[in-house]
Amino acid sequence: MGPRRPRRKDEIILLTTLQEVLKIAEDTGTAIPAFNIDNLEGPEALVEAGEAENCPLILTVGQGAINAGQLWYLADIVKRLASQTKIPLVLHLDHGVSYEQTVLCLRAGFTSVMYDGSHHPFEENVRESQAVVRSAHAVGVSVECELGAISGVEDGISHKNVNLVDLQEVEQFIAVVDCDALAVGIGNAHGMYQGTPNLDFDRLAACRALGTPPLVLHGGSGTPDDMIRKAIQLGIRKVNVATELRMAFMEGLEATVGQRDFYGMYRQAKTNMYELARKKIRLFQGK
Ligand code: G3H
Ligand code: ZN
Repeated sequence: MGPRRPRRKDEIILLTTLQEVLKIAEDTGTAIPAFNIDNLEGPEALVEAGEAENCPLILTVGQGAINAGQLWYLADIVKRLASQTKIPLVLHLDHGVSYEQTVLCLRAGFTSVMYDGSHHPFEENVRESQAVVRSAHAVGVSVECELGAISGVEDGISHKNVNLVDLQEVEQFIAVVDCDALAVGIGNAHGMYQGTPNLDFDRLAACRALGTPPLVLHGGSGTPDDMIRKAIQLGIRKVNVATELRMAFMEGLEATVGQRDFYGMYRQAKTNMYELARKKIRLFQGK
């Protein structure tokens, strides 16, 4: 991972939107990786992996990073990386908790925001999602929404009231909310699975048949490759991964931190994350 240099003006693909990269996914029947970022070294390694596979990336800022005060720093890191790379990068808010948080991200230059109203009453999810879409689309930013609460623990946020997405709600939701992507709960969970996931592929196919926008699979960590491939065949166009990548990074750190080499300390962590990200990218891209 050699030193990076700013690219010439004509070389730069600045930050792009979720809608633009998901169009590529729809046209090619693949899925775009959405990788959570939490520091400087992670996105550096992830962008190297995207470049090696020549694949757009959605770099995702989640509630854990936001609660740790990293929102503005991570936004600046991603913008800097976008000025130095040839692959399209999306700066995306993950599981936005309020309309106000999505507006803050619009101000910070995000090109995609998720509002996750799946744990609220359906009517409230519709109302808030409509407000987020109106603000974001007014400034050319894409929106991901969610129906069917996803279980597990993500960034310290755990949800008990899990439910599989209700097809009638999907039909009602997409009729009145003009979102660019829709995350659906089909039995997927955040964090590493205890045992084999039980994904409801029939329900996924039925969602797609309703004419939804591109669908999103959350909880990518620990999902068997054959299930990922099947989900993509059935219409998943964005796959989120966080836990597995963080674990790979931390295992690298554990292996080197005792060497007291301050600048070499992250080398193994970045290599671990780079290699795992390339594996995930090839899987999502059908390579
Ligand atoms: O929102 C983030 C993703 O859904 C990550 O899920 O940690 O199970 O990979 P994961
Ligand atoms: Zn998620």
